[in-house]
Amino acid sequence: MKIVVFGSINMDLTAYSQTLPKTGETIRGDSYITVPGGKGSNQAVAAARLGADVQFFGRVGDDLFGQQVLKTVAAENVDVTQVAVDPDTGTGLAVISVDADAENVITIISGANWTLGKEDVARTEKCLENADVLMLQIEVPLEASLDIAKRAKQKNVKVILDPAPAVPLPASAYQVIDFITPNETETEILVGMLPHNEEEARQAAAIFHQRGVQNVIIKMGSKGVYYDTADDQGFIPPFVVKAIDSVAAGDAFNAGLAVAIAAGKSVKEAVKWGAAAGAIATTRKGALPAMPFLAEVETLLREQG
Ligand code: RIB
Repeated sequence: MKIVVFGSINMDLTAYSQTLPKTGETIRGDSYITVPGGKGSNQAVAAARLGADVQFFGRVGDDLFGQQVLKTVAAENVDVTQVAVDPDTGTGLAVISVDADAENVITIISGANWTLGKEDVARTEKCLENADVLMLQIEVPLEASLDIAKRAKQKNVKVILDPAPAVPLPASAYQVIDFITPNETETEILVGMLPHNEEEARQAAAIFHQRGVQNVIIKMGSKGVYYDTADDQGFIPPFVVKAIDSVAAGDAFNAGLAVAIAAGKSVKEAVKWGAAAGAIATTRKGALPAMPFLAEVETLLREQG
């Protein structure tokens, strides 16, 4: 199964502290790590660890961070040969804080990620021929993401959009997405209602359907995941794990979902795969290093699925 990921790649500087600082406050933290991340490359690495052939398209700057993140992603069996090095900007950087409850806040400096454009779309399109799934997020210019989504749709490649960080989408966007996977706050930005429970998630999903997306998957954190397709709806409860860091759990979710969809599983099964992959990611520190492996997901599904 082949998965193409078009998106961001960052270096993450993550600080761990008991609480998150309030505005104007300085707090003492416990530790920090500097590890590769970025929603695109996290999803690419997770999909590869879950057994897919993965090709990643993105941009880094001509700097040390760029070299380090690319080397790490390549070592994870992700094809990064088509990643461009932008001579004029730095590699994307994420400044992250994680508290004792595993919750996080993230500031991203987009850098080279924000220079993705027509050239990158053209290179990606050439590699879509045998792809099963195209994975997208919105840490790169929306115009480029929608452009490659349109081309993927024409080639019958399934398009999964993780609308993170969320921005209101044009009506045309919904015509080229097969799966949309917002969390609660992203759902509010996209459809104007914050779902607190299954019924409200169902109402939000109905709006996405009206706009043209067939498969709606709303990630509701510790409450679980709501999925709503043309012929099946339901709620998948969360897997029980000891969470220490929720950074990139959403990326792991999307990779689990994508791999299962590429393997021909039902949406319900694929959502379970996503939920298990996301849960495992919360048990380790950091973004990219925390991505789940196939054996771990299979074990968790066997034990709790
Ligand atoms: O989803 C987590 C990711 O968001 C981090 O790795 C960080 O780079 C930001 O892009």
